[in-house]
Amino acid sequence: MHYTNEELKQKIVELKNKLSVTVVAHFYQRDEVFEMGDITGDSLELAMRTRDDDAEFVVFCGVGFMGQSVKVLSPNKRVVMPKLACCAMARMIDSIYYDESVKFLEENGISRDNILPITYINSNADVKAKVGEMGGMVCTSSNAKKIITTALGEGKKILFVPDRCLGQNIANQMGLKSMVIGHGGDPKEADIICYDGFCSVHQLFSVDDINFYRKKYPGILIATHPECDPAVCDASDFVGSTSQLIKFIKELPEEQKVAVGTEFNMVNRLRPKNTFVLSSTKPECPTMNETTLEDLYLTLKAIEDGAPINEIEIDESTQKWAKIALERMLAL
Ligand code: 13P
Ligand code: SF4
Repeated sequence: MHYTNEELKQKIVELKNKLSVTVVAHFYQRDEVFEMGDITGDSLELAMRTRDDDAEFVVFCGVGFMGQSVKVLSPNKRVVMPKLACCAMARMIDSIYYDESVKFLEENGISRDNILPITYINSNADVKAKVGEMGGMVCTSSNAKKIITTALGEGKKILFVPDRCLGQNIANQMGLKSMVIGHGGDPKEADIICYDGFCSVHQLFSVDDINFYRKKYPGILIATHPECDPAVCDASDFVGSTSQLIKFIKELPEEQKVAVGTEFNMVNRLRPKNTFVLSSTKPECPTMNETTLEDLYLTLKAIEDGAPINEIEIDESTQKWAKIALERMLAL
């Protein structure tokens, strides 16, 4: 049976009222799915706020690592995802590539005891567990600078996975030396050694796009996410996580033009006027966009029928160490 979006929304609201569920949605979700969220926010806010929520089921509209983070932090909750969509960046590293990165540092004269690993939250639970086991922690785009500042206090080399751009951008902001594995350079000379992962969506924004907008609209501001290339962030007026971008843009005077370098769905609903997408190509995150209203409805219906679908399960050892890595971050 085919339902219209309005019919689906009505059914979703009815099921939400009937069941012990909290619908969680990241800012990059399609508008109609985002609208159904009881909790919305950036990765850090979602991880923290779902931990304090007491519904039996968390229905997570986002990408796999986000749902996994909720399960890791709250093992007693039942976490289901309308689509088991995996962030393309998170998929660039697994525990084998992680071990190879540690080996690369060891082969270059840095002992294991001298490595402090930090993983961006955009990684799967197995990588977070490896990081936790080695004494490291998780960071998000909104707290990366703080986490790295704390980590540097230990006087060790930082192995930053998987996003080379976030790692390099934070290093540049803090006046630290960074390098990317596989791009040349001596790890002994660097403070932060980055794994060679990236977000294909944020790679769409270029310095040429910035120059184009500045020429077309003199006085325009450029606001970008730290997953963009370091050259793009260096040329921007403001760099921040999704929540930080929203706050910055909402506080601008109405007539101030701004071009934004992050995912399309979020930029599109920011402000009715004077807001531009910093790319000639529509920057949609394919995996975030996989979740539809129908998926959300079917997921809630399955809970009502007593046969939940796409439930997140994490083995005990991964759970234990990934939780330690996440909690070290939350403690800060
Ligand atoms: P935020 O932590 O800023 O929400 O970003 C998550 C993400 O996947 C950005 O591409
Ligand atoms: Fe992953 Fe990039 Fe999508 Fe964010 S925008 S979820 S980093 S693929």
